[in-house]
Amino acid sequence: MTTPRSAAAATVLVDGFGRVHTDLRVSVTDRCNLRCTYCMPLDAVFRPTAELLAFAEIERVVRVAAGLGIRSLRLTGGEPLLRPGLPTLVRRLVDIPGIDDVALTTNGLLLDGLAAPLAAAGLHRLNVSLDALDPGVFAAVARRAGLEKVLAGLAAARRAGFREIRINAVSIRGLTEGEVVPLARFCLREGFHLRFIEFMPLDAESAWSGGQVLSGTEVRGLLERDLGPLEPVARVDPGQPAVDFQLPGGGIVGFIDPVTAPFCASCDRLRLTAEGQFRNCLFSTSEWDARAVLRAAAGDAGAGLDERLAALLRGCVAAKHAAHGIGTADFTRPARAMYQIGG
Ligand code: 5AD
Ligand code: SF4
Repeated sequence: MTTPRSAAAATVLVDGFGRVHTDLRVSVTDRCNLRCTYCMPLDAVFRPTAELLAFAEIERVVRVAAGLGIRSLRLTGGEPLLRPGLPTLVRRLVDIPGIDDVALTTNGLLLDGLAAPLAAAGLHRLNVSLDALDPGVFAAVARRAGLEKVLAGLAAARRAGFREIRINAVSIRGLTEGEVVPLARFCLREGFHLRFIEFMPLDAESAWSGGQVLSGTEVRGLLERDLGPLEPVARVDPGQPAVDFQLPGGGIVGFIDPVTAPFCASCDRLRLTAEGQFRNCLFSTSEWDARAVLRAAAGDAGAGLDERLAALLRGCVAAKHAAHGIGTADFTRPARAMYQIGG
């Protein structure tokens, strides 16, 4: 017997433009031990712990999302490794039926101590943010020291058995041009998969301007000048935002160009902020309050809770816009900065 069309449609998260959502980014804290200019203000004020979703609440949301077709998770922050007990959460999420990929984006500062417990908890993949190898440039971007710790964290991640470690590097004009080639050589030598990301208007100090965006095309030009021609690599996953190229020495370098080449048309991502708000886009100006649903249900032992969470998530998906519209006349910056959303 075939499933009626309406029942099948109810188990997937399809928006008004036909995009099926299979990826959920879960922020576990807004705190961070760096203060990157493109993400956070120097004087950041963080949410009290009681406002953050508890592990059991995150797990409940993810179970519901998995029932609606979410297959991959990424844990983000702030800096997710600052959340006490993170490996325990990873284990709980990895075990949820339907979830077949759990990844983590970290700044790497605490990875030296946590890589092994995270691997033991079953974490599948790791992205480490590293914009510069020069300590002065690192400090200019991150506004705190930490390069040595990140490098130690990367070494620990490899010892812990993580394969396919990715490095995310945000490119900023006038600041990171000199880091492009050293980062590529470093990743080639170490076997890391490097991805350059264009600077998006999600900085807390609203200092972003189009002029600061060092485009993926320009970064590619810088690489080709020193290393030789890059060869395009065929795209395997159409939902993947990065466009990959092969470096002459054999490694892969990817470009995520959300400003100059938006990939909104194939976006399959949803987000859950640390304090339990669903968002359908990094640039959403609306949120759907999962925490209120979770906590209102506490009294009646959660009867009907899963249905209410599912309805909320469907509503969030249904309201998704076609594209972020950066650079267009009606683009509005979200009120939140990157550390309050989750990368
Ligand atoms: N533009 C582009 N990338 C950003 N990130 C944080 N803020 C921005 C921004 N304004 C990156 C981080 C990290 C990932 C979560 O997002 O460097 O790699
Ligand atoms: Fe912290 Fe990442 Fe934001 Fe930098 S970009 S301040 S490391 S959350």
